Amino acid sequence: ALTPRPEGVDQMDWPTLQATVASCRACALCATRTQTVFGVGAPTAGWMVVGEAPGEQEDRRGEPFVGQAGKLLDQMLAALSLTRDAPSATDSEAAGAGAAGASGPKHLKSDVYIANVLKCRPPANRNPLPGEIAQCEPYLRRQVALVQPRIILAMGRFAVQSLLQTTEPIGRLRGRVHHYQGVPVIVTYHPAYLLRALNEKAKAWQDLCLAMDVAE
Ligand code: URA
Repeated sequence: ALTPRPEGVDQMDWPTLQATVASCRACALCATRTQTVFGVGAPTAGWMVVGEAPGEQEDRRGEPFVGQAGKLLDQMLAALSLTRDAPSATDSEAAGAGAAGASGPKHLKSDVYIANVLKCRPPANRNPLPGEIAQCEPYLRRQVALVQPRIILAMGRFAVQSLLQTTEPIGRLRGRVHHYQGVPVIVTYHPAYLLRALNEKAKAWQDLCLAMDVAE
């Protein structure tokens, strides 16, 4: 059975928000998900990436952008010297063979938090429904309020349209700075789209460069 989202999401601290999302039953996606996907990265990050929704692998792993699109996203972030991975505790740990496996190359900064508009996977990766976005939106809003990033990179139509409350296509929105809750937002294509539309990669690169300028 569905149960309404708890009151006061906009006042919750990070652990309470995490626990609330993990047990959310506010829309029908709770019946088909394996688990919720809250986000990954440092909650103190200066950069925030917002995607669409978990896919099959994300649903299974409980982490956003771990499939093919996620690999491209990681490459895009690395080009900005950013990584989702937590910093390694010590140099020796980082040097150790396969130590924890979670520490990224040391020249990359753990300064990005990655989240999605929807915390649950839509069946067969269909598009998010307006009602699902509406139910989930307060969680992302609170994540942004708590992270307080310097910049948000909105990737793909659903992130862009739900953060900016517009139906304009990405092609008409990219190339300039928008705002969400006072935070600058740069709009760009979704990495899954870029995997199919290689000719758009140059534009995505321009968008990343703009984001770098704004984040400085
Ligand atoms: N696509 C998204 O938008 N988010 C994910 O987490 C994975 C793929």
